[in-house]
Amino acid sequence: MRRIFFVFVACLFLKVSNAQQLSPTPPMGWMSWNFFAEKVNEKELKEIADAMVSSGMAKAGYQYIFIDDCWQGGRDNQNNIIPDPIKFPSGIKALADYVHSKGLKLGIYSDAAPLTCAGYTASLNFEEQDAKIFAAWGIDYLKYDYCGAPSDSNTAKIRYKKMADALRNSGRDIAFGVCEWGLRSPWLWAAQAGGQLWRITGDVRDKWKNLDTKRHPNQSGYGILDIVDYNAPLYPYAGPGHWNDMDMLVVGMYGKKGPSGDLGGVGCTDIEYQTQMGLWSMMCSPLATTNDLRNMNDKTKSILLNEEIIAISQDALGKQAERKISNDTLNVFVKPLANGDYAIAVLNRSGATQTFTINFTDLGLNDKYEIKDLWQHKIIGNGNKWKGIVEGHETKVFRLKNK
Ligand code: GLA
Repeated sequence: MRRIFFVFVACLFLKVSNAQQLSPTPPMGWMSWNFFAEKVNEKELKEIADAMVSSGMAKAGYQYIFIDDCWQGGRDNQNNIIPDPIKFPSGIKALADYVHSKGLKLGIYSDAAPLTCAGYTASLNFEEQDAKIFAAWGIDYLKYDYCGAPSDSNTAKIRYKKMADALRNSGRDIAFGVCEWGLRSPWLWAAQAGGQLWRITGDVRDKWKNLDTKRHPNQSGYGILDIVDYNAPLYPYAGPGHWNDMDMLVVGMYGKKGPSGDLGGVGCTDIEYQTQMGLWSMMCSPLATTNDLRNMNDKTKSILLNEEIIAISQDALGKQAERKISNDTLNVFVKPLANGDYAIAVLNRSGATQTFTINFTDLGLNDKYEIKDLWQHKIIGNGNKWKGIVEGHETKVFRLKNK
């Protein structure tokens, strides 16, 4: 009896450690959807992979090229899923080899129904076969969407588990992203079903916040602030190998037409983009950029390549920040770090510049700290409080070191 118990515990441990190994810290990369949408193709994905390296993004930790929807060309006469031959004339394996030769990883996309969200061939009832093909191509990650599937939670759990199991039996380590938009509380079941992360909302739009949907009925959709508010209470569910996915970074999109430009996605200011990068890092979301890496201005680069902010995202402790102060104007988030430091983020939700005083004891931090501003890369003070000016929609991120 005792032996059976030990074997059971060991199996559980192996399962958990396997999930952790697949995604010990939030995945970082670039996702094709908001930039290319249905125009995704091998030539430009290779250019993006080149730019990932030449821009310094790869060195900073961005690792994945995630192919999103619209790559599929149907099935062959043996039901093997195939890429669109015009978009991917050399096939996905050749692209994976290219991406791997650059030291990067390749992600792909499918859906738990017959067709994807954009109407392309998907994986329902072909889970084993598709997972084996993805493994043979050298795929490292699968984003699995939920368009065209029944709305109940039970079916979702079954369909996600079926694909997760198929990936585990495929012979290759393939991380698994659950994408049912948070509608069935995936933070309660997706890790157990085999996911390393799960989307918590519908699609991010390139905007600060949703407009009043009564007055602007066609402009619903999720802005940066909306997604922060959805994720704030979910901090207990994140940790190594299981993350709340806040969807793609829209940093550097500037309202470019495409999916993130729909539903009122008119573009954000650089301050707002900086807030997105800061809070996605504090909240342990995957960091999937979606802008054109081949043409980034200096400001976009400085936001995406801030290594001190990235260190907060990738901190080994893997604790999602908790929102400790929350009112209409001021939000303060606290994230404990592996070496005993704390990261804190001070968000001005209002459109006007504000002066804030933050007493660290109000955050449960009772010592004296050296305060480093991670956007300015400067030590800006010592002690147990901070007073300063925060612009409208700006987020300061500080690292506090115990003195
Ligand atoms: C859904 C997902 C998006 C994207 C599209 C592709 O809307 O939530 O992230 O993958 O499908 O069609």
